[in-house]
Amino acid sequence: MPKPRVFICRPIAREALDLIGPAAEMEVWNDELPPPYEVMAHKARNVDGLLSLLTDRIDASLIRESTRLRVISNMAVGYDNVDVAEATRRHILVGITPGVLTETSADFAFTLLLSASRRIVEADRYTRQGKWKTWGPMVMLGQDIHHATLGIIGMGRIGAEVAKRARGFDMKVLYHNRRRRPPEDERRLGAEYAELPDLLSASDFVSLHVPLTDESRHLIGAEQFSLMKPNAILVNTSRGAVVDQRALYEALRDRRIFSAAIDVTDVEPIPPNDPLLTLENVIIAPHIASASVPTRRKMATMAAENLLAGLRGEVPPYCVNPEALRT
Ligand code: GLV
Repeated sequence: MPKPRVFICRPIAREALDLIGPAAEMEVWNDELPPPYEVMAHKARNVDGLLSLLTDRIDASLIRESTRLRVISNMAVGYDNVDVAEATRRHILVGITPGVLTETSADFAFTLLLSASRRIVEADRYTRQGKWKTWGPMVMLGQDIHHATLGIIGMGRIGAEVAKRARGFDMKVLYHNRRRRPPEDERRLGAEYAELPDLLSASDFVSLHVPLTDESRHLIGAEQFSLMKPNAILVNTSRGAVVDQRALYEALRDRRIFSAAIDVTDVEPIPPNDPLLTLENVIIAPHIASASVPTRRKMATMAAENLLAGLRGEVPPYCVNPEALRT
């Protein structure tokens, strides 16, 4: 029997390619940049499996045209780049890589929180620009982290790990989630449930951990910024479009909040003329929350395992639409 064919949308860890190699005829898109949409659509028409990244738009039209495709393995925990409903209609399984990146992503959210509150990136620029003249009683004043209130929006795996880290800083943790967590979870997490407006008005830090859906798009906009404290810091490691970026710019420009630290923007990469880039009180990282050597290796391996299971006609270990499997 001929081997199944797969297209891998970028070079990934060797370990993962070594898993796929013996089981499938694979083509790897060997470039730093993602394949252009048209190229990917063309490739997808001729393969049984796709290993995609969050940069790859796997939309309904691509899926409809890819009549041979049986599995899409997305190397990410988020899958807003994949039209899962269309994939399910076409009996195409969709796998993702949760779990392995939870702690690494929570570490990074906390890194952003710490960096923004103590103005680390700005301070480094200040030093390099030769502005450090003396120890100044009013120089580079930031916000305290210890005993501050952290509002976590989206108490899933990553949100829960951020709550755990906050305990080490004696922070008070509030959270908001579509479904309130059971009391034993709240006790274990040391987190108190709050409605969104209450969380926003009480928090010194607001950290976003929701998936991007129709419901969460622009969850934080002008109205929400107006509820936040003037000393508040927004941390976003979820998806850029969860925040109305124009409203974020205005809130930061007018100092309605203290600062923001974001790993995601609405349109990635952020265009060089975006007004956010003109502000001092925002840290913008290039979507790297899960980017540690071991975690990216684990994500790639997990994506390979999902892909191979789908090719064998099995539900991948981490599948968002097991119902897609033909019976
Ligand atoms: C990163 O943003 C991911 O979804 O894995």
